[in-house]
Amino acid sequence: MPSTTAPWWRSAVIYQVYIRSFADGNGDGVGDIAGIRSRLPYLKSLGVDALWINPWYKSPQADHGYDVADYREIDPLFGTLAEAEALIEEAHTHGIRIVPDIVPNHSSDQAAWFRAALAAGPGSPERARYVFRPGRGPDGTLPPNDWDSRFGGPAWTRVPDGEWYLHLFTPQQPDLNWQHPDVHAEFESVLRFWFERGVDGFRIDVAHGLVKDPELPDLADRHGSMHPFWDRDEVHDIYRAWRKVADEYPGDRAFVAEAWTDTPERLAAYLRPDGLHTAFNFDFLMTDWNAKDLRTVIDDTFSMLGTVGAPATWVMSNHDVMRHASRYGRKAAKKWVANESYVPAGPADLELGTRRARAAALLTLALPGGVYVYQGEELGLPEVEDLPESVLQDPVWEHSGHTDRGRDGCRVPIPWSGQTAPYGFSPEDPEGTAAPWLPVPADWAPRTVQAQTGDATSMLELYRAALLLRHKHPALGDSTLTWLDAPAGILAFRREPDFVCVVNLSTEQYRLPEHTSPLLASGFIENNHLAPDQAAWLAL
Ligand code: BGC
Repeated sequence: MPSTTAPWWRSAVIYQVYIRSFADGNGDGVGDIAGIRSRLPYLKSLGVDALWINPWYKSPQADHGYDVADYREIDPLFGTLAEAEALIEEAHTHGIRIVPDIVPNHSSDQAAWFRAALAAGPGSPERARYVFRPGRGPDGTLPPNDWDSRFGGPAWTRVPDGEWYLHLFTPQQPDLNWQHPDVHAEFESVLRFWFERGVDGFRIDVAHGLVKDPELPDLADRHGSMHPFWDRDEVHDIYRAWRKVADEYPGDRAFVAEAWTDTPERLAAYLRPDGLHTAFNFDFLMTDWNAKDLRTVIDDTFSMLGTVGAPATWVMSNHDVMRHASRYGRKAAKKWVANESYVPAGPADLELGTRRARAAALLTLALPGGVYVYQGEELGLPEVEDLPESVLQDPVWEHSGHTDRGRDGCRVPIPWSGQTAPYGFSPEDPEGTAAPWLPVPADWAPRTVQAQTGDATSMLELYRAALLLRHKHPALGDSTLTWLDAPAGILAFRREPDFVCVVNLSTEQYRLPEHTSPLLASGFIENNHLAPDQAAWLAL
């Protein structure tokens, strides 16, 4: 795609397609590439600039695609390589870029390399591409160290010949050994494979986890400042090499890192000019609906990014965390658990959460930088918190010994149209359509795209209007903001030229600033006052 003056990734609105739940084109109850292609007109009319697509590669689906068996093949569940190529091309004709996920920390245990490693036995060159070690204890029956898997239980599994292999996630996701040159060469080749097919960038899964301390020390004996597997300095060498690969291709190919770091400074290190382009701003996602905390995180974001010249990203939801309409509807005592999911306190007040989600949409879309929209947030979908245990599929549920219900509640299929579940998710089939992979709530008829289209009060029309204005208004997108004086509980900032965003997070009405007129508001503005949990975009 042609390069404009400022690279697209500095200000893009990137829509996250969780492929298995977006749209089912072939009627098997699972979303697929055919479904995405059929919904490109919807995405175009919504006004998004790019799609981040969760892993679509060949995979046994032990972690819904984050266990990749072949990085150059599409899983038959989702379609074919030819369909992926057609999607990339069609999206480009709509002016929409495509950013697939890449999963470099681990492969599937069904990947050719891992099968070869098992077959070849201890000490073989094949095993050296993964992290195999003898066990501890007299018979080697104890794991090589005390590391735990993010999904519960030890991070080690023993194979029949007695060796153990490392997996920071499920046992079906063996960690690759990034100290091995084959691993570097293979991933650079995979990047090229997809860049040549026209993808505009990659979302890098677990970008902070690739390099392990070669001594594999117990966490209990941790010495020095660096963690033995998270966010080690050596990881940046990998991304410097990846950046060079991306820069070989025309059209501003860009990376976004999923990197969890202890401090904003450590995150900035991923975004140096010769490293990755952007990273998810999880601090913002994890901040409660509170003016003081949000302002602090916004300011910290800019001071952190200012040191490296990278643009901000704003993200409220994704496929790993509770949907924000439900989060904001709680006086949350929050807790982040092993798999990064959000454990809420008490039931959600969805009316409140939805009001806040509307205001939050205007806040994030007015901030300088890029924005991620997780599929369904534009429909105001809440977390589905009452999925019966019998349908839960996230491996977190099993691996946590049924103590953590996992992330299925934010992954329920998108409701498109009609009066009955699954609301047009799968095509109508007179012979009977397969049930969707997760059940869709019976009361979602008013939440469908069809029901919300044309309803000026709907979440969908708010997103459409905001995205349209964002594209047209010269003040929005990249660049800077200036905070305006405002009482506690109010966030008010100006962007040039002539644009003001005001968000009321207090419990009182707030009078709009003098000499402004509303461009867009998250709710009806009465007597020039913003109600609590309301936001407005204003012209000066
Ligand atoms: C992805 C998760 C996945 C994990 C392991 C995460 O960061 O977002 O969905 O389970 O990586 O690949």
